Amino acid sequence: MVFTHGRGSRTYDRDGRAYLDFFAGAGALNHGHNHPVLKRALLDYLEQDGVTHSLDMLTAAKEDFLTEFAARVLAPRGLDCRVQFPGPTGTNSVEAALKLARKVTGRQNVVAFTGGFHGMSLGSLAVTGNAAKRAGAGVPLGHTWRIPYDGFAGGRVSGLQLLDGMLADSSSGMDLPAAVVVETVQGEGGVNPARLTWLADLAELQHSGEADHGTGPPVRGVAGRTRPAAHRSCGGRAGARPGVGGVLPGAGHGQEGRCRGLRPRTARGDGGFPRRGDEGHAALDHHG
Ligand SMILES: Cc1ncc(COP(=O)(O)O)c(C=O)c1O
Repeated sequence: MVFTHGRGSRTYDRDGRAYLDFFAGAGALNHGHNHPVLKRALLDYLEQDGVTHSLDMLTAAKEDFLTEFAARVLAPRGLDCRVQFPGPTGTNSVEAALKLARKVTGRQNVVAFTGGFHGMSLGSLAVTGNAAKRAGAGVPLGHTWRIPYDGFAGGRVSGLQLLDGMLADSSSGMDLPAAVVVETVQGEGGVNPARLTWLADLAELQHSGEADHGTGPPVRGVAGRTRPAAHRSCGGRAGARPGVGGVLPGAGHGQEGRCRGLRPRTARGDGGFPRRGDEGHAALDHHG
């Protein structure tokens, strides 16, 4: 089957057959295929010869997007963050987050969960569960401690109790991690959402960890295509506060719109796809 085009929630094959697209770019197309408002913003931007790539330099499109993002997303949630534009893929975001967490904490190891998938670059593969995908790296992947995700082994083991115990015991062999990387909804081998109570327990462990063991800022629920809904449920309802967070402004026209919220004084702006800023701005305008 070869798909030729997509509109809204449907994709179409060569024979004109329509398919309801539950996959939706693994969550990257959270506004659907070629949303007319976002498409218009992109076409306008190209027609006006908008800057295509600006490396670290500020452009009007980035500036407008950041202003809107701060007003509509960060301020209402009390998030005092800086924003980084990494490269256009999910795995770029994960790499940036891992580097940042390691730089800020001065620690090397990261806690990741069974069944997690975070992208195909080396840092992301190191925190990914699937053996075949990790084998694709062709080099040793390290500096990761794996903990059972919610429901692992039929729920017979509690990964969070294990993590709590390991962190509290200086003879456990687990040094303090730079970060905890978690998908609130895992998407490999089926859809596997963590329970809200489990996420709340992880958030609690993070809070007490910061106080008791100095556990560094967790990277949470934000890897690549993790859904904004999941992000909201984790951040808002489960009580987790991101050390490093990420969002999809929801562009999806060839260059997916992604950025990451960063704690103040831990990073500077970076990366250069202003076109995403323009579409992201349109997405914020349209969906608020
Ligand atoms: C949860 C999650 N994180 C990260 C990624 C990597 O995103 P990308 O393929 O855009 O690098 C994916 C991709 O499917 C994903 O599902």
